[in-house]
Amino acid sequence: MKAGQRSRTAEGAAALRASHTLYAENPLFSDPYAIKFTSSGWRRILKSRKWRHFLQPRAFSPVGLLIGQVIGRARYAEDQLAAAIAQGAGQYVLVGAGLDSFSLRQSKAMSALKIFEVDHPDSQQSKKEQMALFGTIPSNVEFVSINFEEESLFEALVRSSYQREQVSFFSWLGTTHYLQPETTLNTLRAIAKVAAAGSEVVFDYSIPYHKLSGAERLGSMALSRFTKYMSEPLIGQFEPEQLHAALNDIGFDVLEDLSGAAQNQRYFDARGDDLTTTAATHLIHIRLR
Ligand SMILES: C[S@@+](CC[C@H](N)C(=O)[O-])C[C@H]1O[C@@H](n2cnc3c(N)ncnc32)[C@H](O)[C@@H]1O
Repeated sequence: MKAGQRSRTAEGAAALRASHTLYAENPLFSDPYAIKFTSSGWRRILKSRKWRHFLQPRAFSPVGLLIGQVIGRARYAEDQLAAAIAQGAGQYVLVGAGLDSFSLRQSKAMSALKIFEVDHPDSQQSKKEQMALFGTIPSNVEFVSINFEEESLFEALVRSSYQREQVSFFSWLGTTHYLQPETTLNTLRAIAKVAAAGSEVVFDYSIPYHKLSGAERLGSMALSRFTKYMSEPLIGQFEPEQLHAALNDIGFDVLEDLSGAAQNQRYFDARGDDLTTTAATHLIHIRLR
């Protein structure tokens, strides 16, 4: 990330959620705040007739794959969150929250849920200012700032009002791709240290380019160049089997690991439009023993 600036990839992800919310016939995930969080430049693109066409998912379109990736992970995390709350989880920690609008979209029925938005201070400051402009920041939301490369999530949560004995749910979306693999594992170790047994985590991760073929491989390499240009290079990739072994060593059971094909089967294949996700990213759901 560029020092002093909010994450540009977080804004890109919000723009993709906005595009899906505005233009998909039957949105898999609706985020009415996404467009409000984007810059005026993005809003012009999202509203322009020419660019709107470009942002529609079409067969083999790289933008379509990106929309599928961002929408699929958001939907999956909130599906698992709803199940965890039904099982008694009382805290929701959005790690690398970016411009995720869950705090604003949460239903009144969730007012007993304590929400922690954890993010880089530069991203978080600008989000807080925007949320204040939208209206009151909900009272069950607490902002915790951290730079993962310099500080542990354990220290960050311990200095907040996070209740260590309470079973919690963590989402960590769109972030491990930008971190050294060891930083990702250290953050998961911090969750294992701070959270109660039975707490769950959903995150997404990239698999190595050599596991991809054809357009997927070229698309991932092009995205990598683009995010490098935005000062947020994609440096974190995992082989699934090695990641599972590392998670097991840390103390997590892997409940589910969805490949791109499995995500398509669950969320996209039956839609009847061209929205689909990429093979480059897996979604994983784990539980602390
Ligand atoms: C692509 S955005 C994803 C945001 C959101 N979770 C989503 O799915 O839209 C990546 C997020 O990771 C955060 N991030 C990246 N590097 C970080 C670091 N070293 N420390 C803390 N946060 C970081 C950024 O501030 C940003 O909010």
